[in-house]
Amino acid sequence: MNIHTQILTPSTKDLEHAARIIQSGGLVSFPTETVYGLGANAYNDTAVQKVFCVKGRPSTNPLIIHVESYSKAAQIVQFNQASHILAKRYWPGALTLILPKADSVNIPSRVSSNSDFLAVRVPANAITLRFICHCGVPLVGPSANQSGRVSPTHPQHVLQDLHGKIDAVIDGGQCEHGVESTVLTYYQGHFRLLRHGSIPVEEIQKDTGIEIDLSFHSTNVLSPGTLAKHYSPKTPLRLNANRFKEGELFVAFGQTKGKNSFNLSESGCLKEAAKNLFAILRDADQAAISQEYTMIAIAPIPNSGLGITINDRLRRASMAG
Ligand code: TXA
Ligand code: MG
Repeated sequence: MNIHTQILTPSTKDLEHAARIIQSGGLVSFPTETVYGLGANAYNDTAVQKVFCVKGRPSTNPLIIHVESYSKAAQIVQFNQASHILAKRYWPGALTLILPKADSVNIPSRVSSNSDFLAVRVPANAITLRFICHCGVPLVGPSANQSGRVSPTHPQHVLQDLHGKIDAVIDGGQCEHGVESTVLTYYQGHFRLLRHGSIPVEEIQKDTGIEIDLSFHSTNVLSPGTLAKHYSPKTPLRLNANRFKEGELFVAFGQTKGKNSFNLSESGCLKEAAKNLFAILRDADQAAISQEYTMIAIAPIPNSGLGITINDRLRRASMAG
């Protein structure tokens, strides 16, 4: 399969064109505030199947549905009072809620890998919201990378993985946050964290007073995609490295004395490090391959706030196998 992948701008003319591709069952990668998504009409089973196919994604790993408003989300899933509070507080934004399917909804079971729970979010990116409105349907949107590889935060990353396999990518520049949404589910009377993300979970608890069970995150079986080795460059990673050894390429964080090839944030800012994380993992991997380094060593990242999310991604990226 090798098709022409169009690179579109966020102009109204191009967004209308991209929306027609979606309406006719095609695949369009779109920018969000977190990472680039791989969009398809969530009601079209054949298009959804294509998403799994081009990503090489196991059918057991369900997809997030992107809508333009709370009221559209309420047509798809059932909110209780607490999830209503969270949606009103954080949407548009980088929070994905996994809630029971609404009774009458006709989303193909493939989207949720046969679960009765669907994942939804309203992205905080003006281009994404305009695009979804032009489409007139909800969009499935897994990250637009090959399954298991590093998530894309720039249209060039999408093309590195999916060029010739998807119909178009909308160029919205570099993603503002750089790491994926925080994923929560409401299950058996409690909110449970399924994925650390762009909104630190401690911030959600502090802002809303809502208790979130964190124990699920490491052991959960509800969200299969969050357990596997993930986000991986081809070159192995060594984490919490205070200095690099012979044959290693070093990714620093904060001020450093010695030479380093990459720095997640010279000023030691976690927000900046999150924004740069996936782009630097991709660039460091290419540099390591072309300059024959056998390992990428990464400096320690403070394990609080967004640092927890960054460390979560690095840990998965460093898993062997
Ligand atoms: O920031 C984001 O969330 C990005 C942008 C594009 O919106 N999307 C994204 O999608 O990260 P993806 O497919 O790469 O990650 C979705 C995660 C997976 O770990 C998946 O297992 C979980 O959400 N998930 C989706 N639907 C679910 C469901 N019905 N039940 C349990 N987990 C679900
Ligand atoms: Mg992903």
